Amino acid sequence: MKKIIIAIDGHSSCGKSTMAKDLAREVGYIYVDSGAMYRAVTLWALRQNYFNGNEINTEALEKDMPGISITFRLNDETRLPETYLNDENVEKEIRSLEVSSHVSPIATLPFVREALTRWQQQLGAEKGIVMDGRDIGTAVFPEAELKIFVTASAEVRAQRRYDELKAKGMEASYEDILQNVKERDYIDSHRAMNPLRQADDAIVLDNSELTIAEQKQWLLDKFHATIQHS
Ligand code: CDP
Repeated sequence: MKKIIIAIDGHSSCGKSTMAKDLAREVGYIYVDSGAMYRAVTLWALRQNYFNGNEINTEALEKDMPGISITFRLNDETRLPETYLNDENVEKEIRSLEVSSHVSPIATLPFVREALTRWQQQLGAEKGIVMDGRDIGTAVFPEAELKIFVTASAEVRAQRRYDELKAKGMEASYEDILQNVKERDYIDSHRAMNPLRQADDAIVLDNSELTIAEQKQWLLDKFHATIQHS
């Protein structure tokens, strides 16, 4: 059967990755979490002490970029991909609020976006891929056959992220998360290079009122309809 590219973009913490992962597993496609790549670069910058208040030592980070390797490997037990930074499993650490609070400024840096976009395009060269992020349908794969733009209210999204961190046994405050969600929405939508915006040919999904099972079915229906017509 013909393979396609599925681009899922949208606001932070709106359940894009749950949808994308479920669909990829169901249809046997590769799943790539582009946000995890921006998070991994952010973790690197934090560990190197490249943040000084709102300032980032961009010169040092740009020099490091060619040596930063970000890969995904399947966890044998969960069968889910996990993020590796230079061969170290950082899957849990990149989801911390510390990384969430620093990632959007890192994602505004053109040299970071260029390097990660190139890597993302290589991962999708054979198609048969579901990728989620902010600019997948607009900049990484403007030719993707199926583009979804997901959103939900900031409060619903903050609650979901809070529940997710709690379930993983990580420290979390609902108020801090809500503030972070709003800040990232703002920075992501207003940056100069490839800002978060809906592609003209994307299908919009507001999943505030949908269960995980309902949104999974919704996406699967869109997938089958697209495959039939392409
Ligand atoms: O999990 P959540 O939806 O909250 O965020 P994420 O997908 O892990 O992405 C983390 C951050 O990386 C976003 O807030 C963006 O600043 C940045 N990002 C981006 O700029 N472009 C992408 N394609 C993916 C993420």
